[in-house]
Amino acid sequence: MKRISLLFIAMALLALLVGAMFGVLAGIQYIFPEFLKETIAFNKMRPFHVSTVVGWIILCATGGIYYYLQEVLNTTLYSSKLLKTHFIIFVVCAIAVYISFATGKMGGREYMEYFPLITLPILIGWILFGINYFKTTLKQIQNWPVYLWMWGTGIVFMTYHFTEAHFWLIPYFRENFIKDFAVQWKSYGSFVGSWNMLVYGTSVFLMAKVKGNESVACGKKAFFFYFLGLFNLMLGWAHHSYIVPTVPWIRYLAYGVSMTEWIIFFSILRDWKKMLSADEKIKNNLSYQFLVSTEFWVCINLFIALLISIPYINYYTHGTHITVLHSMGTTIGINTSILLASVIFIVNRAMPQVTEQFKKQILSGFWILNISLLVFLCSLLWSGIKRSIWMYFSENPVPFGSMQEDLQSVMYVFLLSGLGILTGLLFIAFPLLKRGILPLTKK
Ligand code: HEM
Repeated sequence: MKRISLLFIAMALLALLVGAMFGVLAGIQYIFPEFLKETIAFNKMRPFHVSTVVGWIILCATGGIYYYLQEVLNTTLYSSKLLKTHFIIFVVCAIAVYISFATGKMGGREYMEYFPLITLPILIGWILFGINYFKTTLKQIQNWPVYLWMWGTGIVFMTYHFTEAHFWLIPYFRENFIKDFAVQWKSYGSFVGSWNMLVYGTSVFLMAKVKGNESVACGKKAFFFYFLGLFNLMLGWAHHSYIVPTVPWIRYLAYGVSMTEWIIFFSILRDWKKMLSADEKIKNNLSYQFLVSTEFWVCINLFIALLISIPYINYYTHGTHITVLHSMGTTIGINTSILLASVIFIVNRAMPQVTEQFKKQILSGFWILNISLLVFLCSLLWSGIKRSIWMYFSENPVPFGSMQEDLQSVMYVFLLSGLGILTGLLFIAFPLLKRGILPLTKK
């Protein structure tokens, strides 16, 4: 049954490459709005891009969890039928989502624009995953390390918040603007918090396995971090809905909680890096590089998140490229790096000789990806600041068109660095898929 978990990962890697390609096409449309306008206009290209890259994160985390349960934690899955059904449902849903975008039969809300009925089978997939996960782990593993708690929590909360993101279909919510807005954005914040539980759980798992010592996943600090993550998931959504009238203490509490989670994550990573011996570093070099790079991106994103969660600053940055900088900075720099580390770990464990062959290529990809990402985020920051100044501070109103023209050169930098990100990902994900994961599915 490890074959199906690897198929989840193969599909995820494909989604990563296709999703980044859609991103580049959307980037071209920033500069040349007429580009592909008749075939896939920006209002369709964006959902194609965002849904596909979110698919990458969720499929890769899911495939990894199924694989680790069977191959590394040596449990027997409760039901291989449920696993197969889950995979088939997700493949069918992915096709249905693409058909919905391509034919323009959409109707969903932002980030989940596909035809709302597709939500139902996706939810069934999550429930099957939950049943299989808990039935497998509760029976066979005592004294759960923190990553098992994180994965379990991620699955349960993901199922709930994904449902919550569709409460707008019920007239009771839809017909009251404040209620509708608050629930919608709260659910998005918690939805991201839930997938972070799956991804950060994977990162703690990898840290424990690379080190060959479970202490990093069982210590007081790890559990402290878990509970903070849980609070964050429940309360850290406030900066998504600052404009909703609510009592101030709710925002301050949420703001404080969300900040602490990043700091603890950063400190765990640091401790782990210090504990590693040189030998272990060399032995697991590639996964190690990717995990360590997240430390840098956590720092950068912590700084941005700190700033944009301050209500006064949030007022000026909301709706500018600074929000996009925050979401792409975290999904590429942190989520994608951790998940690539996970795929490399799997391939390296199963076929170390193969990983050795394409190590150089992956390392080149690693540097291309990270340097391009830095330039990419700087261009978004620059464009966000310019736009915010235009919206709130320009004394003599400058027409929107002139401001856009001013930003043209920054957009070229954005596009070129976006191409750099795609190139870096091709260097990494393509050999992992072609020479690692796909051959493994046939074994
Ligand atoms: C692993 C790769 C990538 C991930 C995970 C990712 C993630 C995301 C996310 C989450 C958003 C939604 C932003 C928001 O609404 O706040 C987004 C939007 C976008 N991304 Fe990416 N992205 C990736 C690669 C790229 C690349 C290579 C480009 C190339 C230029 C790109 C261009 C865009 C554009 C143009 C938007 C739309 C922004 C807008 O609405 O104005 N992305 N991406």
